[in-house]
Amino acid sequence: MKQMDGVCVRDCTRCDALVASRSQIVNGVGPADADLLFVGEGPGATEDEQGAPFVGRSGSVLDEALAEAGVGRDAVRITNCVRCRPPDNRDPHADELDNCRDFLEHEIDVVDPTILVTLGKVPSEHLLDRSVAITNESGTVVDHRLGGRSRRVLLSMHPAATLYDRSQREGFFATIASAVELAGLNDAGRGDGGAASEKSGGQSRLGEF
Ligand code: URA
Repeated sequence: MKQMDGVCVRDCTRCDALVASRSQIVNGVGPADADLLFVGEGPGATEDEQGAPFVGRSGSVLDEALAEAGVGRDAVRITNCVRCRPPDNRDPHADELDNCRDFLEHEIDVVDPTILVTLGKVPSEHLLDRSVAITNESGTVVDHRLGGRSRRVLLSMHPAATLYDRSQREGFFATIASAVELAGLNDAGRGDGGAASEKSGGQSRLGEF
């Protein structure tokens, strides 16, 4: 794919609105052979500024949940359905998700994770190609064909949901802990979360986080 350099997109002008609203393309971060791959919706303001996914308030919640499960962010790969910040924190449009899909599928192929976690309704519906009631389905695992092969997908609520409603934290943290376990990271391949391992179409609000 000519715009891609390994698993990173270096140049892309497929979506006029996103090209106009982005400061930079936000590629995935983390090992290109990670056992655990998180897929979010798209960069928000902080991600657009810093050039990395989940580095704002949502990212802090994800980092916290990973640390509590005994794994550091460096041990996992984190990416998004679209790599450019949508204007006004709106959800990515269907054509924008489609435009970015081959980049994401290529990244999934290369990383070849043991478990892929969709963070929120948008990535869950986009990758599973059906409507998803994320509040009900968060924490469930499905096998789904992606890019010609079956993938184990764990659906999760978006970490920002815990910022709107603190009672969602327990469920979110439990889902992340099961992702770590399904990926086999609780026994081996820990990142820098060793300290924690000592312990036992409309406006999207998610983009703000
Ligand atoms: N929300 C997302 O879905 N992705 C990010 O990178 C940040 C916030």
